Amino acid sequence: MDREQALEVVRKYTKKEITYRHLISVEGVMRALAGRFGENEDRWGFTGLFHDLDYDVTASEEGDLGDHAYKTVEWLKEEGFDDEGVLNAILAHRFEEYRTDLLSQAIVHADAVAGLLVACALVRPQKSEGMKVSSVKKKLKEKSFAPGVEREEIRNVEESVGLPLDEFLEVAIAGLRSIAPEIGL
Ligand SMILES: [Fe+2]
Repeated sequence: MDREQALEVVRKYTKKEITYRHLISVEGVMRALAGRFGENEDRWGFTGLFHDLDYDVTASEEGDLGDHAYKTVEWLKEEGFDDEGVLNAILAHRFEEYRTDLLSQAIVHADAVAGLLVACALVRPQKSEGMKVSSVKKKLKEKSFAPGVEREEIRNVEESVGLPLDEFLEVAIAGLRSIAPEIGL
């Protein structure tokens, strides 16, 4: 599967624009992280791009996630996508027991930080352009800002994947910048 085909899959299964944009943003962060770790950018990118593929049908308004993540794995297999490492990482973003390697740990941090960075970009006139680590860290401390973002999954990045917070944010910002034109940021 190439990126164009992967995007077609994303368009086929997502129903809300906000979900589509979230998936692209996490993809950008994951590609940048793969580059930093010397890992396969396409596999890491696909993990970001697909991780919430079923969100629009599995998540209820009450916050119940149903078979979120399992549904995505089922759909991807139907689409002929069979990279077990990526499928495992998709399960890992929801369930801790699947966090068994770097990829499956990285998706958790990428998911959280992409949410924070997109929220930061949306309140800046210049969007993601010129975004600084220091200003993102301020927003990380401001609990009322983007309250849905799991702060702990950003703060614990060093103990989990060994990347110091500042460097992680720098890589993540570069990742967001790389796909920003695709989501108007
Ligand atoms: Fe997500």
